Amino acid sequence: MKIRTENGIKEMRAVWMENDNVVMIDQRYLPNELKIFVARDHSDIHYAIKEMVVRGAPTIGATAAYGVAQAAIKGSDIGEAARHIESARPTAYDLFHAVKCMLSADNGDLLKAAEAYANDVVDKCRSIGEHGAELIDHGARILTHCNAGALATVDHGTALAPIRAAHCKGREVFVFVDETRPRLQGMRLTAWELNNEGIPHAIIADNAAGHFMQRGEVDMVIVGTDRIAANGDIANKIGTYEKAVVARENGIPFYVAAPVTTYDPHTQSGMDIPIEERPPSEVLDMEGASVYPPGSTARNPAFDITPASHITAFITEKGIFTPGKMGNMF
Ligand code: MRU
Repeated sequence: MKIRTENGIKEMRAVWMENDNVVMIDQRYLPNELKIFVARDHSDIHYAIKEMVVRGAPTIGATAAYGVAQAAIKGSDIGEAARHIESARPTAYDLFHAVKCMLSADNGDLLKAAEAYANDVVDKCRSIGEHGAELIDHGARILTHCNAGALATVDHGTALAPIRAAHCKGREVFVFVDETRPRLQGMRLTAWELNNEGIPHAIIADNAAGHFMQRGEVDMVIVGTDRIAANGDIANKIGTYEKAVVARENGIPFYVAAPVTTYDPHTQSGMDIPIEERPPSEVLDMEGASVYPPGSTARNPAFDITPASHITAFITEKGIFTPGKMGNMF
């Protein structure tokens, strides 16, 4: 991804391997600081995923793949490392898919397998961008939720990939960026990426999305996903479901962009997908300040389920599929 710094433009990925270390952009500090986090063993990898140093399903998967390779290089018990890494977060299927890929790879070549896994994610994202750009007309106004950009996918993005591709082809686009409480992935990360690329956008309060849809200011919604169930329901960042309901109510197409590896054939429906519940402090504390009455508490589900009935189509590296035609993805 292109990153604007005081010293010019840098090209970086969200995560990579350097010597025996897994190195990543520490997403907790963006957009204010570009800090690097170095994971020296599988406990650090577990921490990085759990505490959201890295986040976004495909980046979580690639980080896990590098983590398993690192465990092999360091002579740790690979099975134990894999189990520890897998336990960091429950919802994103890419985490389990990546670990499974690594455990079935040739033991002597795990570093090569991890690099191939990460490169493959990026290649898939580029294809998602090319297919998805076909849906975006000149002048399109697109709403997105959370961050499904380069930070979430090693590079390039899923939901942001078609937008990048359309912008590169010279089409005028405008992006409504939901702020995405409680962790503000939209405001802090998506807006940062769009700024780096020079793509016009406005950050909106999560509560404002319905207003803009109702007023005819949004032409389409594109989001990413953490897991696609066998029946086409999806899990994505909390608040996605509401956006899908309002989009449907207003006749606005609702697209889900993801590599086909996010499809989990073993989970029948969205209601079977485990939903991570994160600490109440993420809701109660805002930028370090407590703004709630003593004695109150909070609930903090990190994801919700959007039913297949509310999804216009999936944008994948293999093309565009309606939920009923998902069998054709393979
Ligand atoms: O909790 P996060 O920030 O990991 O949640 C990320 C999302 O919900 C993304 O939309 C999803 O992982 C798709 S990323 C291409």
